[in-house]
Amino acid sequence: MGEVDPAFVQDPEHRPKLTITEAEGIPLIDLSVLNSNDDREAIEKVVREVGSACEQWGFFQVINHGVPLEKRQKIEAVSREFFAQSLEEKRKVRREESSVCGYYDTELTKNVRDWKEVFDFTLEDPTIVPVSPDPEDNSLMHWTNKWPENPPQLREACEEYIREVEKLSLKLMGLVAQSLGLPEKRFNEYFKDQTSFTRLNHYPPCPSPHLALGVGRHKDGGAMTVLAQDDVGGLQVKRKSDGEWILVKPTPNAYIVNVGDIIQVWSNDKYESVEHRVMVNSEAERFSIPFFFNPAHYTLVKPLEELVSEQNPPKFRPYIWGKFITHRKLSNFKKLNVENLQI
Ligand code: SIN
Ligand code: FE2
Repeated sequence: MGEVDPAFVQDPEHRPKLTITEAEGIPLIDLSVLNSNDDREAIEKVVREVGSACEQWGFFQVINHGVPLEKRQKIEAVSREFFAQSLEEKRKVRREESSVCGYYDTELTKNVRDWKEVFDFTLEDPTIVPVSPDPEDNSLMHWTNKWPENPPQLREACEEYIREVEKLSLKLMGLVAQSLGLPEKRFNEYFKDQTSFTRLNHYPPCPSPHLALGVGRHKDGGAMTVLAQDDVGGLQVKRKSDGEWILVKPTPNAYIVNVGDIIQVWSNDKYESVEHRVMVNSEAERFSIPFFFNPAHYTLVKPLEELVSEQNPPKFRPYIWGKFITHRKLSNFKKLNVENLQI
């Protein structure tokens, strides 16, 4: 079977080619105009760039985004320190079944184990989510953080960094809104009691990068993901035009932004949530930090009224975000997908 445990081995059709196609086309968008002035024309150009990236790729990178570099460097350093500890130490903050917060190294994507270990936390402490996917059962639970004792600065570094990424994410949602012809703040109400969370990812070197994946192919279920990757690279995006897996080449200090299922539904399929996966390699370990920007648990997600018409009827049935995510988590991401909600 190869050098890795069979639990990590992908079916032949999902194994990565080790000769990779680099992403010429994934747009790199300069956001400096958002931080400096109120030049309407320049902002409209950025809005158009965001709109066409969302349509063509579902992915783009941003630079001059306003997140202070020292905050990013601090969280990247503590993340390295955290994962460098013994398994015993890391398991002191092991994730409980009922939560999304804490350390774990056994995630399955489409039934195959991912070659990674992760630590999840949320800034909305506690984040409130439904207990059950059953619409009759309205009980709620908390996703409570499990902060490790070591490294001692981890919590502070996480909190300070994510406050900044959250601000950037709202600005990005503003650009997405405008690109759909909506007011800039159209989406803000959904994020008042947000259920966003953040993941510190560590992909150790893997003896069989041709058989395993750091994260198997998947789409993101939330609204938008804002990801910091290091300079190793490994994230691949499925190109819409031909289904080819394209590497997102690391750009120093940039963020990779992608449309999640919720934007797909809100935009009534104009912007699709695109499949992606993570390759591993035999020499270098890789670190990444995705921020999953998600609305309040009680949000009723459906195509926006402004964007549907007789000619363009709603393509999805409404669903309650918190119930959806609970269902997905309980079924280990196997059963529920927005595709099941397509009309
Ligand atoms: C993910 O899509 O879950 C992880 C992305 C990455 O590590 O680049
Ligand atoms: Fe993802």
